[in-house]
Amino acid sequence: MKWARTRMPVLRELAARYMDKKPLDGLKIGICLHLEAKTAVLCELMQELGAHLSVTGSNPLTTQDDVAAALSNKVSHVYAWRGETPDEYSRNLGRVLDAEPDLIVDDGADLSVMAIERGLAKKIVGVTEETTTGVRRFRNMEHDKALAFPVIAVNDAYSKRFFDNRFGSGQSVADGLMRATNMMLGGKRCVVLGYGWVGRGVAERLRGLGARVIVTEVDPFKALEAHFEGFEVMPMDKAAKIGDVFVTCTGGYDVVGGRHFEMMKDGAVLANAGHFDVEVNFKALRELAVKQEEVRPNVIQFTLKDGRNLLLLAEGRLVNIAAADGHPIEIMDLSFSIQLLSVLYLVNNKGRLPNRVLPVPADVDREVVQMKLRNEGVEVDRLSKAQKEYLESWRG
Ligand code: NAI
Repeated sequence: MKWARTRMPVLRELAARYMDKKPLDGLKIGICLHLEAKTAVLCELMQELGAHLSVTGSNPLTTQDDVAAALSNKVSHVYAWRGETPDEYSRNLGRVLDAEPDLIVDDGADLSVMAIERGLAKKIVGVTEETTTGVRRFRNMEHDKALAFPVIAVNDAYSKRFFDNRFGSGQSVADGLMRATNMMLGGKRCVVLGYGWVGRGVAERLRGLGARVIVTEVDPFKALEAHFEGFEVMPMDKAAKIGDVFVTCTGGYDVVGGRHFEMMKDGAVLANAGHFDVEVNFKALRELAVKQEEVRPNVIQFTLKDGRNLLLLAEGRLVNIAAADGHPIEIMDLSFSIQLLSVLYLVNNKGRLPNRVLPVPADVDREVVQMKLRNEGVEVDRLSKAQKEYLESWRG
């Protein structure tokens, strides 16, 4: 946690700016995020700004127990451990809600959905949502008129998805694949399912490691982009037969399923980078298998009737956080800076925001990126007055 804190200068600087005023004083914040060191830094700083925190993990397999233990010595309540059963996961969400939070910092929307089900929505000033899948769920709620508080779509900020989803996932998914298997990625046919923000980053970084990357898509624009980027693009029914490693990045459901397992090569590796563990159909795989064995930490080997083995990483949960340390610190410095400023925005605008999914204010997004550039030691040009006037004019 100390290591991370010293490497999150933007988040530290922002927190320091508000430290005297203690803008979160007396507020109860429910946190549901992947519980690792960078998250702990965000929690510590929110506590230092005056908040009472109840913290849980946003996935049963991504909590780092040492971090959870250390954090519990610092902030009000921590309810999370690695390897929670689905029931324990729900109970831990429930424990956070027992504190009746004023604000929620969510990743995937599970905590907020439970808050609505428990009738706690009225008390909630607002929610900030970290990831694509959570924002999708909140937009569906808004569409169904079920959204009872404002939600800031942190995920959709430029300074979040452009860097976190893309470069963060790109590096950390490769890290997760390597740590789980200790395999060489160079020369392998790696199939990246979904070429959105996460898929793009994963495909780029795997190619950089020498993998022969295949992309599958359902969106024609993304498919053409991947093609012109130089990746092989093909339907999953073809890719399933030739891939050595599969990484799902769709945020969808049953993207690698029973039919594909029947076609795969012996020794194929299956991993997921999407939010929920529903992209690789674990249930179908279990049903097809005659034997199931944990052959390394984070690797389950499924032996099929014909003797082929398929290797599932991290039980089909986010491979980059369950089998590695998640995104690089510099990336989470950006994402959690946006989180902190979004929480402060909700507090400052209490009662004035509609119960809708709202963007991160553009000036907040821009400021965070400018601070990060400065901290990375990167200088950029500024438009001259004449250039600015030219661009703002419609005359030739
Ligand atoms: P996105 O919406 O930008 O991309 C998803 C892509 O998958 C789209 O291009 C879509 O057309 C494609 N797709 C959907 N169904 C498909 C199918 N059956 N076959 C092939 N392609 C399909 O979303 P983004 O931001 O890339 O996020 C993807 C998932 O990753 C979400 O669940 C998100 O919450 C999660 N995520 C995970 C992170 C991590 O640390 N592992 C970090 C950020 C996001």
